[in-house]
Formats: sequence, C-alpha cells, structure tokens
Amino acid sequence: MSESALCILGIESSCDETGVALVVVAKQGPVQLLSHALHSQIDMHQAYGGVVPELASRDHIRRVVPLARQVLADADRTMADVDVVAYTRGPGLAGALLVGAGVACSLATALGRPMIGIHHLEGHLLSPFLSADPPEFPFVALLVSGGHTQLMRVNGVGRYELLGETVDDAAGEAFDKSAKLMGLPYPGGPHLSRVAESGDPKAFELPRPMLHSGNLDFSFAGLKTSVRTQLQKLGLLDNEAALAQAWAAVPGGGPLVDLAASTQAAIVEVLVKKSLAALKATGLKRLVVAGGVGANRLLREQLNQAGARRGVRVHYPELHLCTDNGAMIALAGAMRWQAGLAILSREPVFDIQPRWDLAQL
Ligand code: KG4
Ligand code: ZN
Repeated sequence: MSESALCILGIESSCDETGVALVVVAKQGPVQLLSHALHSQIDMHQAYGGVVPELASRDHIRRVVPLARQVLADADRTMADVDVVAYTRGPGLAGALLVGAGVACSLATALGRPMIGIHHLEGHLLSPFLSADPPEFPFVALLVSGGHTQLMRVNGVGRYELLGETVDDAAGEAFDKSAKLMGLPYPGGPHLSRVAESGDPKAFELPRPMLHSGNLDFSFAGLKTSVRTQLQKLGLLDNEAALAQAWAAVPGGGPLVDLAASTQAAIVEVLVKKSLAALKATGLKRLVVAGGVGANRLLREQLNQAGARRGVRVHYPELHLCTDNGAMIALAGAMRWQAGLAILSREPVFDIQPRWDLAQL
C-alpha cells in the first residue's frame, strides 16, 4: 500500500442491490471513481411484492464476485492493486450484510490487506462528493431511503448530529406501501412518481403528518392509512380486478393517477418544509439530499425552487448513485481514511450491525 494514495474496493449488500466499486484516493482532494457495477434484485423480488431476505442473501452470494471481477477489469486493475476492502457493515438485512462482510473479509485476508466496515447511511450522505457539484461542510442532510428518513447536521466526515427522524414509516416506505395498495409493482416509489406526473396533486386531501409538530421529526404511517381510506371509498381496496380495470382506463387520467399525485405531493411537501425548517434552525445554507427517494423529480424541483428563494444550495448525488450502490461505500471508506478516521482492521474478523445509529458513529 502506498502511503500517499489508496485503491479501495467497496462492496454494498445491505438490501436488494449488490454493488461493487473501485475508487482511488490521495491524502487530499476529490475521490476518483474508477468503475462501479450493480446488480438490482428488483425483478426477483417483484413477484413477492417486497424484499424476501433469504432470496436477497442468496442472490448477493451469486453476484458479488463476478461484479468485483467486472469492476477490476473495467478499471484495468487486478486484485493485487486493491489496498483496502470496504464493505457495508450495517444497517440492513442481517443475512444480506453477512454476504458482503464475508466476501470482504475473505478477500482482505487472502490479499493481506486491511478492511473497513462502513455505515450504509454515511455512504448515502457522502455520495454527492462523487458528483460534479460536491458540497462543502457543514451542511444539512436529508436522508430519505426505503428504511430511513432523517435530517442530520453534518459538520464533517464522521461528525453527524441527528436533528430529526421518522417516528414510524420512512418516506420510501410511504411511497412503497401506498403504491402497493394502488396495485403498482415493487418498489413503488419510482412507479408511483411516474404515474403521478399526469395526475392532479390537489384531487385528494391527504394529511401532512407532523408538519406543525414544532420539531424536525416525521411520521408517514397515517398517510398510508388515508390512502387506504380513499381506495376503499373508490371501491378499489384489496380489489385486484377493479384495480386492474382502473389502471387500464388510466391513459385518460382517472382517480388512481390523481391519488398517486396527491400522495406524492403530501410526502414531498413534508420533506421540503422540514428540510427548510432544519436549515433555518441550524442557520446553514447548504442542503444535501441522499437516499433512493432523493431521485424523486418533484422533490428535487421543489427543493431547488425553495432553495433558490432562500440562497440555499441543494446538492444531490448523480441520479444513478441515489439508490444503493458500491461506489458510495468505497467513497465513505476513502473519505474516512482522508479524515484520519478509518479504523483499518487487519484482523481476519468481520462483523455486521443490522441496527446501527449514524449519530453514534
Ligand atoms: O436508498 P435506497 O436505494 O435503499 C435503502 O437504503 O432503503 O432507497 C430505496 C427507496 C425505495 O423506497 C424506493 O421506492 C425509493 O427509494 N425511490 C423513490 C424513487 N426512486 C427510488 N421514491 C420516490 N421517487 C423515486 N423516483
Ligand atoms: Zn440505501
């Protein structure tokens, strides 16, 4: 390993995407992404309407080594060039995490290289540092994924202060569960937001939970209940045939498209207003949006508009790095090393932390 630069292999396997990437990092300056490869299990889980943990683990086993070979070949490197192996230590599905941790540990041991376990959400919130428009510290981060919804004050790498979080469902979960009720395929977020484009966001009056709670916490479970109620009124709740008929009539619009638009509008409004409140409370003028829901077009549009009015710069990861990927894990390892924080373990041990609080890093 050279003292001045490292080549880091990153492995992500916390849920339903196997991601592997290779970055190079010098003591200072931006991290360079050499290559990354991803296998999404969406098609496999779609038949079940959600992630089946056992199937996820087995698929990670099948994919991770071929993906590692692919990123090395794409970057014109070999295994021997890898200085450090970074992997997702948590949070996530225990079995899925164990696959990435096991492979990382085996590789690092065979190569005689150190390894580093990364917090999945740290990967998400640092991911805009791989974009053409990277943020500067400090900033407010809105982390919106399938499992988490948090507002953080980010003072630097590894210096995260929790400002607020969801007390029940995550924003991604609200998208996914509402979409499922509407008969849309898994994962619902991208499908719901696509159909919402042609709907009327004011057609249904849906709650904006905790909008005026006076704190920076979120709650999305009630929204799903309201969507259920509306579907019941439309005679579409748990009624596959009626849902299929309603969707077939959709090119001309219709209540489902309007309900999708109204649901998206409710989630986005809460996320935008709470983010603005967090910026006001901290006095910061930079916002980073990360996690799968950060790919949502309406959320980006409204945050950009609100930010422009308040002199706030809003940063996002590249669209293809919004959802889970190996690049953010390799990047987090690299930035922790630059910050002098990386605890590079040379011991052939691996551990995972399926539940892990980012603010306690
Ligand atoms: O960060 P991520 O890939 O995985 C987790 O760590 O959870 O986020 C996945 C979540 C899912 O809930 C998915 O429906 C949501 O991100 N998502 C979206 C969009 N793209 C992905 N939600 C709304 N609009 C989108 N365009
Ligand atoms: Zn994620």
